[in-house]
Amino acid sequence: MATAVCPGSFDPVTVGHVDIIRRARKMFDHVIVAVLVNPTKNPSFSLEERIGLLKRATKEIDGLEIVGFDGLLADYARQKNAHIIVKGVRNITDFDSEMQMARINQGIEPELETLLLPARAEFEHFSSTMAREMIRYGQPL
Ligand code: PNS
Repeated sequence: MATAVCPGSFDPVTVGHVDIIRRARKMFDHVIVAVLVNPTKNPSFSLEERIGLLKRATKEIDGLEIVGFDGLLADYARQKNAHIIVKGVRNITDFDSEMQMARINQGIEPELETLLLPARAEFEHFSSTMAREMIRYGQPL
């Protein structure tokens, strides 16, 4: 059974994340949505809230495991016997930071591959940062 990890802060999950998770699930039997426990960014939503929102947003997708993780992603993937990390990229800024993270993970665990999926055009402008702003100012999402 091929297992992939979709890691992130998910602070909060967006429609773009859900699209990437759905597409990852089409390619892999089992997808672990790994929610970073303590992102350096000081999350607006608690781990429980982020996991709860993810569960609601992905309730129609089967074969998912939605869990918190702490420490290095490469170590976590090894523990879970997952050899693929799946991330979405919206633009060149995402690509740049994803490349950096992929290379760090390659250095830690050479067998661990990162698969970057281009975000769909309709989700290009969605971000957790924007969602937090809208929530803060009471705008409908
Ligand atoms: O939602 P994000 O900011 O794209 O998620 C980033 C995440 C969680 C994938 C990244 O910060 C991460 O893997 N953190 C765990 C620590 C780690 O493994 N660092 C080395 C790779 S950058």
